Amino acid sequence: MDRIVITGGRPLKGCVRIGGAKNAALPIMASCLLGGGDCVIGNVPRVRDVATMNALLSLLGVSVRMEGTQLILNASAVTQTAAPYELVKTMRASVLVLGPLLARFGEAEVSLPGGCAIGTRPVNLHLKGLAALGADIRLEYGYIRARAPRLRGGCIDFDLPTVTGTENLMMAACLAKGTTVIRNAAREPEIVDLARFLTKRGARIYGAGTDTITIEGVERLHGAEHRVIPDRIEAGTYLMAGAITGGEVHVRECEALHLGTVLSKLREVGVEIREEPQAVTAVGPRRLQAVEVKTLAYPGFPTDLQAQIMAVMCLANGTSVVTETIFDARFLHVPELQRMGACIEVESASAVIRGVASLTGAPVMASDLRASAGLVLAGLAAQGQTEISRVYHLDRGYEQLEEKLSSLGGDVRRVAGAA
Ligand code: EPU
Repeated sequence: MDRIVITGGRPLKGCVRIGGAKNAALPIMASCLLGGGDCVIGNVPRVRDVATMNALLSLLGVSVRMEGTQLILNASAVTQTAAPYELVKTMRASVLVLGPLLARFGEAEVSLPGGCAIGTRPVNLHLKGLAALGADIRLEYGYIRARAPRLRGGCIDFDLPTVTGTENLMMAACLAKGTTVIRNAAREPEIVDLARFLTKRGARIYGAGTDTITIEGVERLHGAEHRVIPDRIEAGTYLMAGAITGGEVHVRECEALHLGTVLSKLREVGVEIREEPQAVTAVGPRRLQAVEVKTLAYPGFPTDLQAQIMAVMCLANGTSVVTETIFDARFLHVPELQRMGACIEVESASAVIRGVASLTGAPVMASDLRASAGLVLAGLAAQGQTEISRVYHLDRGYEQLEEKLSSLGGDVRRVAGAA
């Protein structure tokens, strides 16, 4: 297993290009299953989750061609409607094939994902929504088995806004007979991007980006071309790398509009933020200031940047409180940050962080994608060497992490082999 070794204490300076959003690319890729024709998808990040989705789509009979960051998918000759445990357990987003397979082929079998490092993460709302569209859903032998000769439009009132749940239902409803209304829908930019792509394919979707989405079912979808939006979480991570090291990082080819709450929080921390439409610069202050952060559904502060802002807060002047409201166990980075000298106490859903003057490098273990990114940020600012094991978590969602950080002046190396 590879490790990442960081020698900290260097201010990061320079410019970094942001890739396409993993969490927009994955549902767009799954949505190719809704019809035939070439789906030409540009700005696809070369990360492991994309490779896993490609493997799953190939297994189902989709033709998959990846050339650089362009992906051409064609689902004209799908032969399978079952997503096996071996793939689903490595990536929960595999559940995104459920809605499209069921809507187009009248049946789907998707393994229940199983355990997760950030919380219980059930898929009950996806299933309740599909049942409201007339599907017969059974949980048997660790699999979700869904059947419906033809889905019919219906009303779905989500108990809470779920991102992939909204995406699954929006995709399924595209081919249902009649009109579907999704209330309390998630409003993330990734949902808007998926709706744009589906609309290019002939779907009729209104209200994506608001909490009520209306979908008028159509008979079929055709191929289309699309460019995935920039990854707002990757952009936020690099801006925080600039902030925590007291450097100056310019992220380009990002979408400043999608980073509203993150940028205002960074300003509160004392970071100088300069915004342009497709670029943002963060200039770290001499001393960071403590703040309160609460993760919320979009447009609130994203849970996917919680570990990273916590790392920043470890070095802030004063006491910060970071409250996680989306997932029930997303604090696995805390004991690792403590090993680097951070002063953090967790009280149920909140972490109270007393800022320290410096962190020290240590061997630490990544537990999930974003927790690992938090450890990378801490390592960049810490005195001495930090060695992060279980790097495969980072590879799931960060493209060329070491190369990008090195280009900004960070001392970051990947070491192959067992820890
Ligand atoms: N929930 C339920 N039942 C459901 C679905 C969700 O109770 O059927 C709960 C979850 O347990 C959680 C809350 O609803 O407490 C919100 O979860 P959501 O469904 O919105 O999360 P998700 O769709 O599984 C996506 C991202 C995550 C991101 C969350 C929240 C993708 C592929 N994944 O997950 O991204 O953290 O939304 O914004 O889009 C990551 O990229 O590292 C990552 C984990």
